[in-house]
Amino acid sequence: MKTIFIYYSYSGNGDVVADFLKEKDIDIRKVESNYKLSNILFFQMMKGGFDAARKKKPKLINYDNNIEEYDHIIIGTPIWNSRLAPVCNSILDKTDLSNKKITFILYSGSGEAKNAYKRLKASYQNSNIIILKQPKKYKEELEKLKEL
Ligand SMILES: Cc1cc2nc3c(=O)[nH]c(=O)nc-3n(C[C@H](O)[C@H](O)[C@H](O)COP(=O)(O)O)c2cc1C
Repeated sequence: MKTIFIYYSYSGNGDVVADFLKEKDIDIRKVESNYKLSNILFFQMMKGGFDAARKKKPKLINYDNNIEEYDHIIIGTPIWNSRLAPVCNSILDKTDLSNKKITFILYSGSGEAKNAYKRLKASYQNSNIIILKQPKKYKEELEKLKEL
């Protein structure tokens, strides 16, 4: 089974996941966007949280949505305001996941992702969802990806 990890990362946790999965012969596609947050935490949380809540879909840079050669698609996203980070909304919007095995890897500060989990289970009933608590800091969280 050919697998790809398509992911977004704002502050590096997703990159740690990508490095781990690369070792398992999983192809990696990091998604870039011009979407930016303030360096000031308060404004970062306000804007990021608001945009996540209203399911904003920022423009992606050179996103390649061709996944024809893959059977298993793993989507990785940070959790903002308990929801998918806005760039992940754009990824889902631009990627046809029908007839694919789907896994979501959600990385969050608390290890929880209640709203995102509910939304993903509603839209992708057969998907597998794995939630990691800050894998950049807690490397042992990567153990949860062993069975992939
Ligand atoms: C705008 C914003 C909102 C966040 N909201 C949450 C949240 O609701 N719950 C949580 O557990 N972590 C929250 N976090 C923390 C991130 O989910 C966590 O640091 C994640 O690992 C970041 O992944 P990245 O480094 O790949 O961007 C938030 C971070 C940002 C920047």
